[in-house]
Amino acid sequence: MRKGFFFAFEGIDGCGKSTQIAEIAGKLQNDVIPYHITREPGGTVIGEKIRSILLSPENNEMSIHCELLLYLASRAQHVQEKILPALQRGEIVVCDRFQDATFAYQGYGRAVPLDTLRNLNAFATGDLAPDCTFIFDLPVQEASARLKQTGKAPDRLEGNSGEFYEKIRKGYLDLAARDPDRYAVFSGMEPVHLLAGRVYEKIMQIMNTNDTLSREG
Ligand code: TMP
Repeated sequence: MRKGFFFAFEGIDGCGKSTQIAEIAGKLQNDVIPYHITREPGGTVIGEKIRSILLSPENNEMSIHCELLLYLASRAQHVQEKILPALQRGEIVVCDRFQDATFAYQGYGRAVPLDTLRNLNAFATGDLAPDCTFIFDLPVQEASARLKQTGKAPDRLEGNSGEFYEKIRKGYLDLAARDPDRYAVFSGMEPVHLLAGRVYEKIMQIMNTNDTLSREG
């Protein structure tokens, strides 16, 4: 029996999702609601090792298929080791990226067919999907300016062109348009606190309108 709720936060690099996750964690803590904050790739010891392979700019020769399978390997371990147990304990799981990053980046960005991605992803997750994916949408130029402001060296993915990120932004919006019940799209241009308030309200609304006790997982 799965008692908790699962939310994924998504968007192009620099969209502000990690800031939003920190804001939501603060609100859940204030309201004494048990939660587990995690991320992909990563979230487990094995997953974090896979993350460093995926993001290292040294690995520029990585093939698209290798990249895809590493993201899925990290996810398979994450679901089994951390996400499912937390959901079974009745916690709210907030994940910084999950399957929609694969659909947007490897699907729309790298042109791997979406059907293939959905099948492989279902194998990796055992069909576990977020109750809702929050997408923080903003222009590619703005996101790239924000990344530059951090002063951090770009990782392997962030080294990609603006054109690549335009495809990914469009991908996220397409995914949301195709299945509006499973996504919530917000403007990443809104002030941080205002945006966090809206996101939290949506989380509470989803939890209140679902009968947790009858949910199978
Ligand atoms: P992060 O910087 O948001 O932690 O994400 C790491 C990078 O990995 C980011 O550029 C998005 C990318 N990514 C994919 O390409 N496919 C995936 O399935 C996931 C989870 C992330």
